[in-house]
Amino acid sequence: MKDAAPQTILLSDYTPFGYQIESVHLTFKLAPHATRVLSRIAFAPNPEASDGTFFLHGEELKLISARIDGAEVTPDVTDTGLTCEVPEGAFAWEAEVEIDPANNTALEGLYVSNGMYCTQCEAEGFRKITYYPDRPDVMATFTVRVESDLPVMLSNGNPGTSGEGWAEWHDPWPKPAYLFALVAGELEAHSDSFTTMEGRDVALNLYVRPGDLGKCAFGMEALKRSMTWDEEVYGRAYDLDVFNIVAVDDFNMGAMENKGLNIFNSAAVLASPETATDANFERIEAIIAHEYFHNWTGNRITCRDWFQLCLKEGLTVFRDAQFTADVRSEPVKRISDVIDLRARQFPEDQGPLSHPVRPDRYQEINNFYTATVYEKGAEVIGMLKRLVGDDGYAKGCALYFDRHDGEACTIEDWLAVFEEATGRDLTQFKRWYTQSGTPRLSVSEAWQEAPDQVQGLDQRTALGTCTLTFRQTTPPDANQSEKLPQVLPIAVGLLDADGTEVVPTQLLEMTETEQSFSFEGLMAKPVPSILRGFSAPVVLAREQTTEERAFLLAHDTDPFNRWEAGRGLARETLVAMVTQGAAPGGAYLDGLSAVVTDRALDPAYRALMLGVPGASELAQVLFEAGHTPDPDAIHDAHETLRQATATQLQDALPGLYAANQVDGPYSPDAESAGKRALANAALGLITRLDSGAQAQAQYDAADNMTQQLAAFSCLLLAKKGEAATQAFYDQWHDDRLVIDKWFSLQMIHAAPEDAVATAERLTTHKDFDVKNPNRFRATLGAFAMNHAGFHRADGSGYALMSDWLIKLDALNPQTTARMCTVFQTWRRYDAQRQGHAQAALERLLAKPDLSRDTSEMITRILKA
Ligand code: BES
Ligand code: ZN
Repeated sequence: MKDAAPQTILLSDYTPFGYQIESVHLTFKLAPHATRVLSRIAFAPNPEASDGTFFLHGEELKLISARIDGAEVTPDVTDTGLTCEVPEGAFAWEAEVEIDPANNTALEGLYVSNGMYCTQCEAEGFRKITYYPDRPDVMATFTVRVESDLPVMLSNGNPGTSGEGWAEWHDPWPKPAYLFALVAGELEAHSDSFTTMEGRDVALNLYVRPGDLGKCAFGMEALKRSMTWDEEVYGRAYDLDVFNIVAVDDFNMGAMENKGLNIFNSAAVLASPETATDANFERIEAIIAHEYFHNWTGNRITCRDWFQLCLKEGLTVFRDAQFTADVRSEPVKRISDVIDLRARQFPEDQGPLSHPVRPDRYQEINNFYTATVYEKGAEVIGMLKRLVGDDGYAKGCALYFDRHDGEACTIEDWLAVFEEATGRDLTQFKRWYTQSGTPRLSVSEAWQEAPDQVQGLDQRTALGTCTLTFRQTTPPDANQSEKLPQVLPIAVGLLDADGTEVVPTQLLEMTETEQSFSFEGLMAKPVPSILRGFSAPVVLAREQTTEERAFLLAHDTDPFNRWEAGRGLARETLVAMVTQGAAPGGAYLDGLSAVVTDRALDPAYRALMLGVPGASELAQVLFEAGHTPDPDAIHDAHETLRQATATQLQDALPGLYAANQVDGPYSPDAESAGKRALANAALGLITRLDSGAQAQAQYDAADNMTQQLAAFSCLLLAKKGEAATQAFYDQWHDDRLVIDKWFSLQMIHAAPEDAVATAERLTTHKDFDVKNPNRFRATLGAFAMNHAGFHRADGSGYALMSDWLIKLDALNPQTTARMCTVFQTWRRYDAQRQGHAQAALERLLAKPDLSRDTSEMITRILKA
């Protein structure tokens, strides 16, 4: 286990490493319980460093021998690394260590998954492979030799020579150790090729277990689309002769961008029509793009230290979102991302885990791969682009790639290229990186009629002025007791009473705490459409009448804000239902009917319109409005609203369902997927009227997973799922990824009072496996998404979660710590629930040998 005394790492303590590395040679003699790793590293003093201490990270390693310039040495070894006397000037370090990949359940470093060796080194896993300066600002070229009797042996870069039982790889691009990778196993490849715009022929391989070859085609096509897109939009070409992707079943994250050898969670790359849903296909396309795009934003230009994580992650999420918007639908992508931001990043930024996009302290860096670093980090790039314009953004990026290629950089480097390219001062903008919390933006409107309009003399010259006054505040938190105003790009358009756009979208730049903007020369009092496209990641606190929301839902010319108006109406009606026992609002139901049945609108967009704010989002809204959210009341309000929606749309639903069926062989393209999404949203409502008859028919006829799973969901919700649950299992029990869905759906759709019992039943099922992160998340992660089930008043949900996190922590700290976030909102609820949550958290914290990962998370979550 890790250190007992938690150590805090500070951004302000950064110093460069005392040595540079000319080259690294590694030899792996693979054996499940006793792999030998031989390293030969050429060190030279770093002229830029003042401290010449020679410290190499190393954890859970058995040091066999060490030599400097060929002579045996005896270093001082601790739990975290070693120090050693070294000569002045350059020297060669050699070491041999032994590791135990077969017993590595943490899935960091070198481990074995289903008989296959693979690695995960980001952020600090390389130190579990050999002694090394495991920090991103130490970059080196790697040559790797793998010895084993397995047929496929891979590492980074280009293949070198190979023979019976061995293979060599050489990566010509200097890289930090976190991008190292090695894979060996009985794998087969789905192969293809790509010719770059520079004329380089690249061999593409997707390596999988033999039975999975039929699930590779889509991932490969997505890779080629990503390569083309990065050339066309960012001018970035691939830079090696091969690009390999490997699918692995046991993986803590989604995927990893190791240079030339991406390693993917099999759930994030394998797909066939029969086994993967439209949502799976879309996510796979996005993750393939994301990891591929890291080749430039992350690998060629990397991070100086882990505080700069958003430099690669925020930027790469922004790039993959641009890609998805380009190859699919821009408004649909934007709306989906905002739903996700509100569901995951807002609660984080408004709770005990709040931290700046660039944190300035951490105990365990794995705990900072957060929605804030990723999603808010991407939002910040979006704002930067809006402020400097498309042209300024392109110039700044070009300068960034040109100037910093091959370097380990900081956020300061990133901002400087935009200042230089555009002449804009980004000092205040930088607060987006250093201040935590979600700004609240309130707005008031004033309308001033021109004097002659008042007199009614001449309608044609009767021009008035609309003034919007904005106020921004960010509540203080543990990171900053006082928040300074941030630069907010606010996109605004004005509509007249007919819904005609009288002022097209303009970007207002707010820099003060309070600021007014006037629009002159208006014929009549307009209806403003504010924060179009969600132009800044803020909570827009706007006093708005139901009528105005309904008007915008019917007429807004900005597709995001049109959706947002509907979302606002749904939120308003749910809040009134929960707090006043009101009936579902007519304005919402009428407005929704009109939009959903408007055939001129994209089906995917209409499907999004049918969504409502989730239970957790609603709990947050209620909490902020001064109420104590009651999970059972929220559950009931959702049920009532969905039933009322079904009744309202009763006549339209059969037509909506029929018109959006997709005939012919399944294709995961955006248009077909959008139709299925709308038809299946309609099916959800139909199920409330016909007790599952249509859903059963769809289940029986389904020839693809999207249709099958949607029908299965409906049957579970209608409590008619017993037969389908058995049939689904019998059909798919050999497919791990499909069985994950089987676990998840039963958990998510369990009635609140049955959720704990369902979790107990599923965690004792023979296919439950605590060591497989996908299965654990499919079961316990899904349990936490059952809001009223997890937040049972008797605390049984919290206790069950705590029990499982205690078990998992001993095996896999990283996945345990990530799942602790399900407790981050515990203080929203009533005293009884809070008491139960606190007890569950304290029990977890008291576990002997608790990992540093989990300990940091629980300590932060418990802090007032
Ligand atoms: N570099 C990360 C993977 C990673 C994160 C490894 C933390 C180890 C610790 C990778 O590029 C990534 O961000 N993956 C995401 C998916 C992506 C589409 C946002 C993931 O794995 O969830
Ligand atoms: Zn990433």
